[in-house]
Amino acid sequence: MEVIEKGNSLRAVVQALRCSGKSIGFVPTMGALHEGHLQLLRAAAQENDITVCSIFINPIQFNNSDDYKLYPRALEQDIALLNSVACDYLFVPEVLDIYPEQSPLRFSFGELEGVMEGKHRPGHFSGVATVVSKFFNLVQPHRAYFGQKDLQQVAIVRQIVQALSFDLELVCYPTVREQDGLAMSSRNKRLDPEQRKLAVNLYKVLQLAKAQLHSKSVAEIKEEVARALQQVDQVKLEYFEIANPKTMQPVTDVLALPEVALCIAAYVGPVRLIDNLLVNLKEV
Ligand code: PAF
Repeated sequence: MEVIEKGNSLRAVVQALRCSGKSIGFVPTMGALHEGHLQLLRAAAQENDITVCSIFINPIQFNNSDDYKLYPRALEQDIALLNSVACDYLFVPEVLDIYPEQSPLRFSFGELEGVMEGKHRPGHFSGVATVVSKFFNLVQPHRAYFGQKDLQQVAIVRQIVQALSFDLELVCYPTVREQDGLAMSSRNKRLDPEQRKLAVNLYKVLQLAKAQLHSKSVAEIKEEVARALQQVDQVKLEYFEIANPKTMQPVTDVLALPEVALCIAAYVGPVRLIDNLLVNLKEV
């Protein structure tokens, strides 16, 4: 695997590859890689001639300075993992190379960011959209890979691809979970052993909600989820929503849709985690 730090060098490499007819799969990450990322990288390697991964902890998508400072960093281990999945290029730019000056650019996604992550993390999706657009321009991938765990992010990226006419296919893979059901996330590395055990409650309440979709109203299910988490030490619910997976807007009548997204964000100790389940209503 070749490690590239400068955007211009990366652009030159991928342009030459594209000219020689190679297809390029791109997996953007913020590092501290886990099995969820590796699943995307393996898929990229299988579906493209060349795989490019980026590791960049994008400062402008953090609306909490501690979250940025404490975001797990594990470059050496990441490089070993990337070699194990035969990644061809790793792009690891410095912040100043990506943002030589403060970015004046602001993205606005209307209703799509008025809920859940967009509502609770002001500016977050504008930061994501800025960096993802920059990377799409530098990498010029044929396919870009994202995980379902960041479901609203996938909807935002889909909108950027469409609105800015990026010539690429957006590929989304299901969330990879630990044995007990906890969604894999780089932020899990910040949990102490006790918090790690408690974190599984996010998945448990999603399952609880799923089991009640046919028998209770949205309001009743939301109350039940809040009540269940109130009883768990160190876990503080930020939101639980039942959303239309196409628009991310809250649903009032679950049975009017073929599929719903159950979405949750909660603090476990000081660590903010998110998770979701896509539920086909014919299957529950
Ligand atoms: O999902 C992430 O890790 C980040 O939001 C992304 C897409 C790499 C942009 O910084």
